[in-house]
Amino acid sequence: MSKSKITAKGLTFEPFLLREEIAKQVNRVAEEIKRDCGNEAPLFLCVLNGAFVFAADLFRACDIAGSEIAFIRYKSYEGMSTTGKVRQVLGLEEDLTDRTIIIVEDIVDTGITAKALIADLKVKNPKSVKFATLLFKPESLQTDAVPDYVGFEIPSKFIIGYGLDVDGECRNLSDIYVLSEDCDTAE
Ligand code: IMP
Ligand code: MG
Repeated sequence: MSKSKITAKGLTFEPFLLREEIAKQVNRVAEEIKRDCGNEAPLFLCVLNGAFVFAADLFRACDIAGSEIAFIRYKSYEGMSTTGKVRQVLGLEEDLTDRTIIIVEDIVDTGITAKALIADLKVKNPKSVKFATLLFKPESLQTDAVPDYVGFEIPSKFIIGYGLDVDGECRNLSDIYVLSEDCDTAE
């Protein structure tokens, strides 16, 4: 297992959350979802691109008979900062009427994406909408979109791995890395 610093896009990153800790929190979140769903079979809605790794693990860990998964794509980040504007770039074909929806995100940062997403889904008359995120940066939150299920609360630092990217790269890392303090983040 690689536990040393790595470089990507000319930046240095250090190990932050190892795969064993991630697996533990994914399983804990799955237990919470299972407990809350009771007899309901939810539709998991994976927010591409970043959430695909977390969603794959969470969906299997939940193991709820009759549950389904669908994919939606929103984009707000360019490089290492949010543009403040959210774009839906891949639509949803599923009928959400009376469905129990669990949105699955990789990370909630400003909460702008989460807020837009919840508003877009609520007009489709679902039975309920819950929001699960692997990572949450509470100090960065600018909206009232506080997630219902959180794997880790983390400081407002830039991270990569386990689905999260730096300009498209590093999504395939099994551990999560944080940008080194001594790295120049001016961008
Ligand atoms: P928000 O709309 O500011 O909450 O940002 C949500 C999206 O920004 C996430 O779904 C990620 O795709 C991206 N993002 C936020 N923080 C990070 C980070 O530290 N690393 C990589 N992507 C991030
Ligand atoms: Mg995301």
